[in-house]
Amino acid sequence: MRRLRQHPGIRALVTETRLHPANFILPLFVRNGKNVRKEISSLPGHAQLSPDLIAAEAEEAAQLGLGAVLLFGIPDKKDAVGSAAWAEDGPVQQAIRVIKKTTPDLPIITDLCCCEYADHGHCGVLEQECGRWDVNNDKTLELLVRQSVSHAQAGADIIAPSGMMDGMIRALRAGLDGAGQTHLPIMSYAVKFASAFYGPFREAAESTPQAGNRRGYQMDPASSLGQAVREAQLDLDEGADMLMVKPGLPYLDVIREVGRTFPGVPLAAYNVSGEYAMAVAAARNGWLDERAVALEMLIALRRAGASMLITYWAKQAAGWVSE
Ligand code: PBG
Repeated sequence: MRRLRQHPGIRALVTETRLHPANFILPLFVRNGKNVRKEISSLPGHAQLSPDLIAAEAEEAAQLGLGAVLLFGIPDKKDAVGSAAWAEDGPVQQAIRVIKKTTPDLPIITDLCCCEYADHGHCGVLEQECGRWDVNNDKTLELLVRQSVSHAQAGADIIAPSGMMDGMIRALRAGLDGAGQTHLPIMSYAVKFASAFYGPFREAAESTPQAGNRRGYQMDPASSLGQAVREAQLDLDEGADMLMVKPGLPYLDVIREVGRTFPGVPLAAYNVSGEYAMAVAAARNGWLDERAVALEMLIALRRAGASMLITYWAKQAAGWVSE
């Protein structure tokens, strides 16, 4: 084995897995206002930005050759149904319009969910059913459709629903088609686990559930690979164009299983906030080499079968891989 490992050129020649900036997707957090930059302490190097500052971020992303940006909105006012999600002047809608003016060729993906917009922090309409609070599935679908049409009309290129409601993709496809948005692809957060690795994100998006947790809709980390495949199958049957597995690193087996079961379906892995934050924190203590660890994680996700990588390292990694 060592004959092919001694010469750096030969090592590069026989390498099967490569990272390319065009496969990286950069998550961005938008809030209303002008010249607003609110650092996110749990995600060092990331901030909530107003639409004008998002434009500069998008320009940088395009210059680095990134594949896309993924927008999350943080509204000024939250209410029980998250009505800011479909406001024409909502943060995401404004950011899309600004980016489309300055960087028209950069694909914009929008995260579609209620949790960033609802005061209770759950991913849908909260109702008391049989004496216990729960997210009403079908009422949530109606809200998600409104949000998707609003994003589409603002100019989004891909819609990424992340709420894990049943029948979500069918409802969105029908709603978008009915609004004349037949061309708009859906990237489904199809296989999304109820993960503790989302901790830092919830500070970033101010979306921590005020009571309870997301186990009533997101997958149990202990669930079988078969259940992951079934989630993916349902979404494909309902009209999803791309699939996602989330989180990434602790679920490499799931990425591989979904990728192998549905070859030819574009697959994304979300290298989530906790995966980023723990490496950055360890690096700050001098315990890990951030760059090396980040690249190793991204290579692992790629090797497992994800072609698109959503990562908070997108900008840095683009620089690292082109060196
Ligand atoms: C919204 C959403 C979440 C993430 C992406 N979209 C949070 C959650 O489900 O609680 C997490 C992303 C990350 O941790 O980086 N539903």
